Amino acid sequence: MSNLNSERILVTSALPYINGVKHMGNLAGSMLPADVYSRAMRLLGHDVLYICATDEHGTPAELAAAEAGLSVSEYCEKMHIAQKEAGANFKLSYDYFGRSSSAATHKLTQDFALALEANGFIEERTSQQVFSVADGRYLPDRYVEGICPNCGFEAARGDQCDNCGKLLDPVDLINPYSAVSGSHDVEIRDTNHLYLKQSDMSGKLRDWVESHRADWPALTTSIAMKWLDEGLRDRAITRDLEWGVPVVNAEGDVRDGFEGKVFYVWFDAPIAYIGATQDWAAETEGDWEKFWRTDKGADATRYVQFMGKDNVAFHTLSFPTTIMGSGQPWKLVDELKAFNWVTWYGGKFSTSQKRGVFMDQAIDIAPSDYWRWHLMANAPESSDAAFTWEDFQASVNSDLANVLGNFVNRITSYCVKKFDGVVPEGGEITDAEKWIQAELAERLPRMVSFYEAREFRKAMAETRAVWAAGNEYLTQAAPWTHYKTNVDQAAMGVRVGLNLVALFGVLAQPIIPDAAEKILSAMNIPEQFRTWNFREASFDDGPLNALPINHPISAPPVLFTKIEAEDIEAWTERFGGAE
Ligand code: MF3
Ligand code: ZN
Repeated sequence: MSNLNSERILVTSALPYINGVKHMGNLAGSMLPADVYSRAMRLLGHDVLYICATDEHGTPAELAAAEAGLSVSEYCEKMHIAQKEAGANFKLSYDYFGRSSSAATHKLTQDFALALEANGFIEERTSQQVFSVADGRYLPDRYVEGICPNCGFEAARGDQCDNCGKLLDPVDLINPYSAVSGSHDVEIRDTNHLYLKQSDMSGKLRDWVESHRADWPALTTSIAMKWLDEGLRDRAITRDLEWGVPVVNAEGDVRDGFEGKVFYVWFDAPIAYIGATQDWAAETEGDWEKFWRTDKGADATRYVQFMGKDNVAFHTLSFPTTIMGSGQPWKLVDELKAFNWVTWYGGKFSTSQKRGVFMDQAIDIAPSDYWRWHLMANAPESSDAAFTWEDFQASVNSDLANVLGNFVNRITSYCVKKFDGVVPEGGEITDAEKWIQAELAERLPRMVSFYEAREFRKAMAETRAVWAAGNEYLTQAAPWTHYKTNVDQAAMGVRVGLNLVALFGVLAQPIIPDAAEKILSAMNIPEQFRTWNFREASFDDGPLNALPINHPISAPPVLFTKIEAEDIEAWTERFGGAE
């Protein structure tokens, strides 16, 4: 593709929360598709910056640190490293993986709050909150439990009753106790907090969401509209907590009465997209403003976000309120791709109940390529998608090992054996070559369009169809049959087959980068020829004629090992599976 069409693209995936390595569903619904998209856009010649970070503030971080016997900052440091490593193991090609606890994010968060207050979008209000004397802390809503005032359920959570589903206020619970310690020694105390007046932004938010109806997935707009239709409520953006971003006044001193309070984790987390970009810029001498400041070039940047559906309201309503309400030229998201859930055999992932695989375990049992292919080919786009070992096995054995792997190994080893491991010239063009040429001319541009539209299932299906067409070509061309009677014709089949191998390697890069690398290095494809420039495929000047005659190649090592019934048995034992 010509560089005239090169765009600057900012990609972010929802920031993984710090307390624990993520499960495969989390990976499939934000970080992995963001990575696949970023890689594909880079191959198309775009200037991509993919930013992610750990989301480190909030009560769960404090509690998890206490449980681990570490200070919160030690805990976060350790878990940040663990998550960064897990991402690297899955070949997530972050340009920067930062931390929401960085100084840059602290400063930005405080500045946003001051700007919002100056513009009338923040107000200090008094509310009542449950204080646990035994724990020495205010309890967030979901850490207070008690009897549901609506249905009498014994263990209702302060935010919602799991029995009758009613949304609750923790101060309404009967006989409340701390879910942290179990202590009933709790008091209802008055406490002051800053409120973000989202309700005053409703009209502007609605117009903005409405303007994206055509280009956002229905899942995204329907969630945003549901909240807008119900009427936005003003939300407290501070909490009674130690760990987080302190609330300051314009002089930079702790705001009066806000000692022991910090911003709510959901207020600063999306701001960390910007903070992490600043941290990236500081480390690389990059220019963060062209991604984030519309007065400094960011209006020419396309900003694409990836996240699970539970994050959509925060990204279409709260964070945009922060951005718009600041009155400053910050960039808003252009495209928001939301995902449904990956379920574990239709149910929830759970560490304690041995249901489901987490990123650190997954990499121990199968290479990252296997997971990446399976999760993207079955991305939870139009509905939730159940993970099963049986489907995982089918993806690996049939798509990767049979359709792709066999093709590559068969034709490359044949070339090594019969044609000295160099691309032969071949003879006449036959119907088989014309057929595969027409297939590619149709499929490759379509595949690119699916990537551009972030339709991952369709992009994967099209990729698989291209691999299958390669197999079909070899069946038609049958070089091994022709070899005995017409070497030139056999050579033609080998030449085209090798070009297809190279093409498949080029196509595989965003999805299964390790296998792609093995294929491309066996095929001796230099870096500059690994890009995606096949929009207009033709036999004379396209992917079927990319390899020069006499170009040396080798047969790559076996690319994919099949998953056996014993593997599934062992994994089911360890992580759960079919009953
Ligand atoms: N940590 C949140 C979660 O795991 C996502 C935060 S996304 C951000 O659901 F934008 F707020 F950072
Ligand atoms: Zn109830």
